[in-house]
Amino acid sequence: MTPSTGKEARIRALIEAITAHLRADQGATEGTDRTLTRLASTDFRSGSFADQAPVKSRHDAVLRQGIANIPAGSLAGIRSALVAATDDLAWHEDDMKYYPAGADLGAGYGQCNLHSLLVGPGACGFHHDDFSLGIFVLGPRTLYRDHRHDAPETYINLSTRTGWRFDGGSWADHQAGSIIFNPPNAVHATRVYDQPFVSVFSWLENIDGQCSVVPHSDWALIEANLEIEKSA
Ligand SMILES: [Fe+2]
Repeated sequence: MTPSTGKEARIRALIEAITAHLRADQGATEGTDRTLTRLASTDFRSGSFADQAPVKSRHDAVLRQGIANIPAGSLAGIRSALVAATDDLAWHEDDMKYYPAGADLGAGYGQCNLHSLLVGPGACGFHHDDFSLGIFVLGPRTLYRDHRHDAPETYINLSTRTGWRFDGGSWADHQAGSIIFNPPNAVHATRVYDQPFVSVFSWLENIDGQCSVVPHSDWALIEANLEIEKSA
């Protein structure tokens, strides 16, 4: 990457911090290495910065709380770069354009999801035709229902504790710094506890492919318990 100033420098620094974290974990998952390969195929040359106007969201307080909770240690570089760049980014909610009409990822997801694309089509950082990388956020006590998509996906968990399950199996908690790879059309779900969930995500290819929700019998029970916890 080339020297730059202001907003561009801060967004470049965030992408560089994410890249450094992935490099330190090279070989950890298929997604780790494939994300690095896709980053290497991205045009970061001088003049390629998208320079979009920042977009603030209605979930700004949740976003700031989630970022403030990111532990230091191995995530210190991403944390400080994200703190510096938060107000430079364009934050959006999921418009569900890759899901069939009527798809329902759950009330919690609809109430509070947020992302900012650093790399990809329409990104506020750098364009790529068929790779996207960004920051993804969910509000506290959210079930992100079981779903799948054509795009292989990688997550770096930045939050201290998040529940995940794969192929409808048992829930397991994953810690900050853990990396998750979802192969194409592998079913996955995410459960957020009492603090916001913040992550780095990437979609490696086929990013215009289809997404679908995969029904599971325990959604109603989990969501009812989340509502009880909210009001406790
Ligand atoms: Fe996903």
